[in-house]
Amino acid sequence: MKKRIAIFISGRGSNMEAILKQVKDGILKDVCEVALVFSNKPAAKGLAVAEKYGVPTAAIPSKGKNRADFERDVIELLKPYRVDYIVLAGFMRILSPLFVRAYKNRIINIHPADTNQFKGVGAYEWAFENKLAETKITVHFVDEGVDTGPIIAQRAVDLRGATTLEEVEKRGLKVEHQFYSEALKKVFSGEFNRQKQE
Ligand code: GRF
Repeated sequence: MKKRIAIFISGRGSNMEAILKQVKDGILKDVCEVALVFSNKPAAKGLAVAEKYGVPTAAIPSKGKNRADFERDVIELLKPYRVDYIVLAGFMRILSPLFVRAYKNRIINIHPADTNQFKGVGAYEWAFENKLAETKITVHFVDEGVDTGPIIAQRAVDLRGATTLEEVEKRGLKVEHQFYSEALKKVFSGEFNRQKQE
């Protein structure tokens, strides 16, 4: 059975688009379908991109709302879509324990650093300022902390010779776009759980 997923975004949605492509005719084609692209920002550029792919979209503004009210509304909105997994792709809002518990072990995030080394926003800036020769993209389950959940997979980005922040981001995003779908495939096909048990 294909997994039903909702992708959560807040901005341009380049990771979302990479996933939509793989669902359409790539490595995610047989393992999942995108039930919804959701944004906490109605003006997020990625929503228009999702529409181009013919995917249902919805937005509930988080601005000016308290976290509990916002999340209750999102949980209500999601119900009829019956999603198996929530895939965070540049979703810039921290989810409270209330929300995380409602989708326990079913929320996945991509973080552009090794979560053991750097948590929170500004990971590419951190890699650039510290002149790292390499950074690691991490795909992980979301738990009740910020970037603390169990790691699904990591992939290195070679940063040697990257002299600007833009170059660091460019190299990182190129890896993110390929790697996120590969990691998702492992989870949706059951391969990730099998690996853990071996
Ligand atoms: C990516 O670097 C992602 O890892 C981080 O936020 C950025 C989102 O970019 N969480 P996009 O919206 O997917 O283009």
